[in-house]
Formats: sequence, C-alpha cells, structure tokens
Amino acid sequence: MFVETLVQWWLCRVIIYILAASVVLAADTSWSCPLCCRCSSEVLEVNCSRCQFPTVPDGLSTDCQLLNLTYNKIKTLERQQFSSLTQLWDLDLSDNILNMIEAEAFLGLQNLLTLRIARNRLKIIPVGVFSGLTRLRLLDISQNEILVLLDFTFRDLAALQRIEAGENDLVYVSQRAFTGLSSLQELHLDHCNLTSVPTEALAQLSGLTRLRFRQLGLTTLPNNSFRCLGRLRELVVSHCPWLETLAENSLFGLNLTSLTICHCNLSTMPYTPLHHLVYLRYLDLSFNPITYIQGNRLRELLRLEELHLVGGGLLRIEPGAFRGLARFRLLNVSGNLLATLEEKAFHSVGNLETLRIDGNPLACDCRLLWVVHRRLYLDFGGRPPVCTAPVQVQGRVFRDFSEAELPGLFTCRQARILNRKPQQVRVDEGHTVLFYCSADGDPKPSIIWLSPQSIPLSPTGRIHVLPNNSLEVRYAQVQDSGAYRCVASNAAGNDSFAVGLQVWGFSQNHSRRLHPALSFPAGNGSSHAHQPFPFDAKTLLIAVTLGFLSFIGSVVICFIFMFFWSQGKGQIKHTATIDFVPRSTIASNGAGGGNRVESGRFTMKLI
Ligand SMILES: *[C@@H]1O[C@H](CO)[C@@H](O)[C@H](O)[C@H]1NC(C)=O
Ligand SMILES: *[C@@H]1O[C@H](CO)[C@@H](O)[C@H](O)[C@H]1NC(C)=O
Ligand SMILES: *[C@@H]1O[C@H](CO)[C@@H](O)[C@H](O)[C@H]1NC(C)=O
Ligand SMILES: *[C@@H]1O[C@H](CO)[C@@H](O)[C@H](O)[C@H]1NC(C)=O
Ligand SMILES: *[C@@H]1O[C@H](CO)[C@@H](O)[C@H](O)[C@H]1NC(C)=O
Ligand SMILES: *[C@@H]1O[C@H](CO)[C@@H](O)[C@H](O)[C@H]1NC(C)=O
Ligand SMILES: *[C@@H]1O[C@H](CO)[C@@H](O)[C@H](O)[C@H]1NC(C)=O
Ligand SMILES: *[C@@H]1O[C@H](CO)[C@@H](O)[C@H](O)[C@H]1NC(C)=O
Repeated sequence: MFVETLVQWWLCRVIIYILAASVVLAADTSWSCPLCCRCSSEVLEVNCSRCQFPTVPDGLSTDCQLLNLTYNKIKTLERQQFSSLTQLWDLDLSDNILNMIEAEAFLGLQNLLTLRIARNRLKIIPVGVFSGLTRLRLLDISQNEILVLLDFTFRDLAALQRIEAGENDLVYVSQRAFTGLSSLQELHLDHCNLTSVPTEALAQLSGLTRLRFRQLGLTTLPNNSFRCLGRLRELVVSHCPWLETLAENSLFGLNLTSLTICHCNLSTMPYTPLHHLVYLRYLDLSFNPITYIQGNRLRELLRLEELHLVGGGLLRIEPGAFRGLARFRLLNVSGNLLATLEEKAFHSVGNLETLRIDGNPLACDCRLLWVVHRRLYLDFGGRPPVCTAPVQVQGRVFRDFSEAELPGLFTCRQARILNRKPQQVRVDEGHTVLFYCSADGDPKPSIIWLSPQSIPLSPTGRIHVLPNNSLEVRYAQVQDSGAYRCVASNAAGNDSFAVGLQVWGFSQNHSRRLHPALSFPAGNGSSHAHQPFPFDAKTLLIAVTLGFLSFIGSVVICFIFMFFWSQGKGQIKHTATIDFVPRSTIASNGAGGGNRVESGRFTMKLI
C-alpha cells in the first residue's frame, strides 16, 4: 500500500515535471530554434556555429537579434535571404565558403549594425548586395578573395563607420567605390595587392579618421595621394617592401596626429613630406633602413611626443635632431646601429620619460653620461641599455652602475691633431695639391676641412675631402689660394690646424712679364680667370712662339742659301762685259769683219 502511494507520488511528480517542461516549451514555441543551434531567448541570440549547414537554416525566430552562422558550409546567399529577421542587429557569416551573394541579399535588415563576412571565398561583391542596410556600422569583408571594388558597392551604407577589407587580393578600387559612405571613419585595407593608392576613391571619404594600408606594391608615394581627407588623424602604411621614397607633397592636405610607415624600404627620414604635420604626436618609422636623423629637420613637428624607429639602420642621431620638439617624451630606437645618443639631440632632455636604446652597439663614454645619470628614473621599457665598448664595461647594464664607480667611467679624451708639420704649398695653376690631416681622441674624432672662407668642404667637387681625411685641390686655380683649416672634433672638444696654398696663375708668372702684349687687358684680368676662354694664355703663347720661330727659321735658311749660292759663283764681279755684232758691219763686208769684233763689245758697271 505504502509502496503504491510512493509510486503514484513519483508518477505524479514526473507528470508534473513533464507538464512543467511542456509549459516551458509552449512559452518557447514562438522562439523556434533550428536543430543543432543554441538559442538563448534572454539575449535573443541564435548560435548556429559549426553546424555544417549548407544554406541558411529555415525557421529562425523573427525576434532574433544576434545570429551566428560561422563555421558552416554556406555557399550562396539569395535575394532577401534574411528579410523576416527585421530585429537582427548582429549577423556573422564568417568562416563559410560563400562565393556568391545575390544583390539585395540583406534587404529588410533595417536594424542591422554589424555584418561580418570574413574568411569566405568572395571574389566579387555585386552592386546592390548591401542595399537596405541603412543602419549598418561595421562591415567586415576581410580575408576573402575580392579583386576589385566596383562603383557604388557601398552606396546605401550611409551609417557605416568602419570597413575591414584587409587580406583580399584587391588589385583595383574603382573611383566611386566608396560613394555614399558619408559616415565612414575607419578603413582597413590590410594585405591587399594594390599597386597604387586609390586616391580618387578615397577622396569620397571626407569623414575618414583612420586609414590603414598594408602591402601596397609601390616604390614611391606620389604627390597628393590623400587629398580631401582633411579629417584623417591616423594613417598606417606598412609592409611595402618596395616603398623607397615619399614624394615631397605626398601627405599634402592631411592633418594627422599619428603616422606609421613601417616595414617599408625608406632609407632617409621623410622630412619634407612630414613638415606640415604640425599636430603630429606619434610617428613610427620602424623597420625601414634609415641611417641618419639629421639635426634641426623635424623642428616643425611642434607637438611630436613619440618617435619609434625600431629595427632600422640608424648609425647616428645628430645633435639638434629633436630641436624644437618641446613635448617630446618617448624615443624608441632599439635594435639599430647607434654607438651613442647625445644629449644635444634633444630639445630638453628633462621632458624625456621613455628611452629605448637597447640593442645598439653603445660606446659608454662621456656622450652617454646623461643617460647614466638618469638611469634610475628614465623608463627603459623594461630593457635598460647595455655597454658594448670600451672593454672594461662591456656587457654591463646601465642600471647596475653604482654612483661611486662612475667618475672613472664614461669618460672622453679630447680630439687632437697628430702631425702638425707645417704644410705651405706654392704651385703653378693647374697642379693638384694634397694636404694631410689626422687626429686621435676618444671617441674617434670627426674631421672636417674649412675653406679660406670658412665653408665646410665636401667629399665632392674639385676641392674635396678624401676618405682618408686628406684634402685634395685638383687643377689648382689662383682663387683657390688661402689658408685651409682642418678641424677635428669629438664630444670632449675640438682641435684645428691650418695649411696654406698659394697658386701662381700662368699669366702672372710668364706672359705678363715676358710678353705684355699677349696678356689680357688688365681691367678684365680677374674676371677672365673665371670665364671659360676658347684657348688659354699658355696655348696662345706657344702658338705664337712657334709661328714666330718658323718665320725666323725660313728667313735664316733663305739667307744661308743665298750666301752659298753667291760663294759658288767665285769672286764678286763689279763689271759686266757684253759682246755684240753691229748690224751695219755684217751687212757691208761678210769676210774681213774680224778686226772689228774688238770694237763690238761694251762694258757696264754693276751696282
Ligand atoms: C557559439 O557557439 C560556438 C560553438 O559552440 C561557441 O564557440 C561560441 O562561443 C558561441 N558564441 C556565442 C556568442 O555564444
Ligand atoms: C597578391 O599578392 C600575393 C603576395 O604577393 C600573391 O601571392 C598573389 O598572387 C597576389 N594576387 C593577385 C591577384 O595579384
Ligand atoms: C611633387 O610636388 C613638388 C612641389 O610641388 C614638386 O616639386 C615635385 O616635382 C612633385 N613630385 C612629383 C613626383 O610630381
Ligand atoms: C630597397 O632599396 C634599395 C635602395 O635604396 C634597393 O637596393 C633594394 O633593392 C630595395 N629593396 C626592395 C625589396 O625593393
Ligand atoms: C588639425 O588637427 C588638430 C587636432 O586634431 C585640430 O585641433 C586642428 O583644428 C586641425 N586643423 C585643421 C586645419 O583642420
Ligand atoms: C618600441 O617599439 C617596439 C617595436 O615597435 C615595441 O614593441 C615596443 O613596445 C616599443 N616600446 C615602447 C616603450 O613604446
Ligand atoms: C689619402 O689618399 C690619397 C689618395 O687615395 C693618397 O694619395 C694619400 O697618400 C692618402 N693620405 C694618407 C695620409 O694616407
Ligand atoms: C671648437 O670649440 C670651440 C670652443 O671650444 C667652439 O667655439 C667652436 O665652435 C668649435 N668649432 C667647431 C668647428 O666645432
């Protein structure tokens, strides 16, 4: 009896449970949940991830707000595929095998805010696919195989704020592809195959504030690449292995606060393209083979706070490099080839908070003393610098130096010119002259030569500095004369040494003295030295001399010849006797005319 009641009681409970369960089910009937999906009525979410669906499942609740269809096998989306889901605000179709979306596929989703179609196989997005998505804010079409973006693809997306379109094979963006995206703030075109910046298309995006490109196949960024993007604040261009230069006006029209150009092939700092970016606060030029930051070239970037140039080829940051940058507080140059970083590089080293110079072959001499002095309160980003030279401190970490040992370390020895043997050279015009200069000191001094006008001489030109620091004056000219100065300087001081050069002009030492008639008019003399003349004084003189000599020679030869000729004729005669037969005698007596022959001659006197 008792057992029976117990069984009945249990049955009763089971029935009550079943009833209760059916009540719950009944409450859920308006919320049908496709097989395999996980549905949550509280957050109105349907999660059909990883269900092997070949198409969008039927019987989705019309109240549904979040629909997750990721990791299925959906291949196509038909026209008005989701038209009943008017409440939907988040739709995720990523990680399917979609290769076709018909136009108006999303028509009716007037509340949709987020649409993700990443990691599918889309090659093309037909115009009209996104029509009706008037409230959409985020669109992710990254990691597809999209080749071109056609005109008006995003026409209806007036509320769209962000597009993720990275890692496609984009080769072309049509000029009006972005028409209608009046609210777009952020565009990511990562990992695309574009060979040029789609300037015209971008010009439609007047509200854009962040733009990111990755893998552009460019060698140079042309002038006005980003015009009409006056609201853009953040630009990232990365992984462009061929990008070697930025044209002078490439960033013209932009007013950026953050600029990143990294993993490219820039070998010089793009001073000119940047100089108008007076609101720039963050600059990242990491992973470019940049070797120098020159002095005083970034001074227009008044508000710059951070510079990152990691993993480049930096050999030197010149004194004054950050002059004028009063707000500069972070320098990140780890992984370069810097031997030092002088305090003079900074506008005010007191403002510097973070310094990353680890991974550089640092020479721990007086130039880095300022870093050691600040070693306890500068933020090294967890990587304090380490000495590479000199040997006695090699491998030591800056933080670990004690105050007591510092005086003997981090020292320098002033530059000193070694061989001070006087060098006074006098040469004729046209000769080549060499002057020597060598110096020692610690750190190794740099040597410059100054002209008599105190202008630094460069390694090129007629008067130039050789790689071994000698000064070569080729084809010396009169105006090269004067005192040249070799200046050796290092962090501890400088030393200088003067040499003298006197060049004799050709006209000065020969023609003027020997042959005044051949020298140039005195009034123009100095200017002639500079003017190219068809033939110089020397040639002229030689030509004239040769001509004169040959004339004299001919005359002499002529006289000699006449002399010998006259000698060959014996004594000089002063009279000449000429015989003749008078006409009358021959005519009257032909036989006995012999007597009269004597009378048939006359003698003349030669003068
Ligand atoms: C949806 O389901 C997948 C697989 O079960 C799970 O990994 C994911 O976290 C779920 N998503 C949400 C929003 O619950
Ligand atoms: C895009 O670039 C990648 C890598 O350079 C290359 O493998 C791919 O074939 C390119 N695609 C197109 C369509 O050019
Ligand atoms: C870019 O513009 C500057 C200044 O107008 C001009 O000097 C330069 O030649 C231009 N560069 C190119 C590649 O057109
Ligand atoms: C990078 O630029 C250098 C010259 O500055 C050039 O020799 C080199 O080939 C370039 N690298 C690439 C990947 O284009
Ligand atoms: C440039 O940007 C700064 C900071 O974002 C802003 O204050 C300034 O007004 C902008 N200038 C122009 C000309 O748009
Ligand atoms: C310096 O740059 C490297 C590489 O970009 C980065 O990982 C690191 O966080 C930066 N350090 C600081 C202090 O910003
Ligand atoms: C420097 O180089 C030049 C040319 O290479 C050479 O003639 C000269 O002797 C060198 N000077 C020294 C000091 O080695
Ligand atoms: C050499 O040092 C003096 C003072 O020590 C300085 O006035 C001068 O400008 C320096 N010259 C050079 C070329 O560095």
